[in-house]
Amino acid sequence: MWQQGARRFSARFCRRFSSTIATSAPGVNTRVAATTVATVSAASGGLWLASRQQESKSARCDADPVALGAAALGGAALGAGACWYHLNGQIKAEKERRSKYWPRKIMMLFGAPGAGKGTQGPKITEELGLPQLSTGDMLREAVAAGTPVGKQAKAVMESGGLVSDDIVIGIISERIKQDDCSDGFILDGFPRTLEQAKALDKLLTVSGESVSLVMAFDVDGSILEERICGRWMHKSSGRSYHVKYAPPRAMKLDANGKPIPSTMKDDQTGEPLFQRSDDTAEALSKRLKSYYGTTVPILDHYAPHGIVKKVDGGRSIGEVTNSVLAALKM
Ligand code: AP5
Repeated sequence: MWQQGARRFSARFCRRFSSTIATSAPGVNTRVAATTVATVSAASGGLWLASRQQESKSARCDADPVALGAAALGGAALGAGACWYHLNGQIKAEKERRSKYWPRKIMMLFGAPGAGKGTQGPKITEELGLPQLSTGDMLREAVAAGTPVGKQAKAVMESGGLVSDDIVIGIISERIKQDDCSDGFILDGFPRTLEQAKALDKLLTVSGESVSLVMAFDVDGSILEERICGRWMHKSSGRSYHVKYAPPRAMKLDANGKPIPSTMKDDQTGEPLFQRSDDTAEALSKRLKSYYGTTVPILDHYAPHGIVKKVDGGRSIGEVTNSVLAALKM
């Protein structure tokens, strides 16, 4: 009985308190604030009850500090637990409401090989909590796993050519149905042909959605070779490093100033890094040809919708990140 009463009281308290905070102090984390106040209130309640008990015991010269502390702790735990339980329910309901009535944020990172898509994508993920979907990473996984798709893609990728539209459209259409895409997603390396862009639009139209932002990195072609040929990558996360511009912490150089491969390790996991087989000057020239010939026209396809934002990707990584985060707000 008393547990039910406490839960009802706590739920009502949390609801009132959360909405009061939300309207009077936007930006304050209502969940934390409500829980804190509930905890303090419950602890005070517990202390009050315990002190009443103690008063009567004191009259009999029988004070018990352990009981006093236990009552306070119990009250605090009860208040915090009930409030937390209630707020979690509210958050779940809010998430469901959003997925029903709000469109997903569908972004595209656009740019030549080495423009910085793989470097800047994780910063957007960190800021917005949206997953970065790289068709290049997915295809490399398929190649490594030796799946039928991987077998078809391997030679094409190594030479710097484009994998067929059917394959990549199939991969992406399945991937964007997954739970982690419920609030939106960041496309990296897709679409790469006008056909892929049209197929994506068609896919999104079925659910009343459309691409909301195309972030296009402008980078002078002359610096791309140095970026691509100096890149090292971490397989499972897709994190990319550069021997000069973004070296891993463990990197050591030999007498000729070249990185010692055994020291190229991921900062976060300590796992070995690798160099992509298509990160060569020869493959790059083919990749650039297909980028300028086949991929760039996609910008004209999306420009009339007013969703293309250009970012100068030729500056330092930090400067580009600042522009990327600023472009998200516009
Ligand atoms: P994919 O993996 O998508 O490669 P890409 O498009 O060629 O792009 P990159 O990953 O090379 O460049 P990035 O812009 O991510 O550069 P990064 O940030 O790492 O595709 C690979 C292949 O898969 C394709 O060739 C194709 O065969 C196939 N494929 C994929 N998608 C396909 C599709 N939709 N259709 C058909 N085929 C498809 O940066 C590069 C380096 O520069 C890093 O070392 C980084 O540290 C450094 N760097 C980055 N920014 C800066 C900066 N501002 N200053 C200094 N250094 C920097």
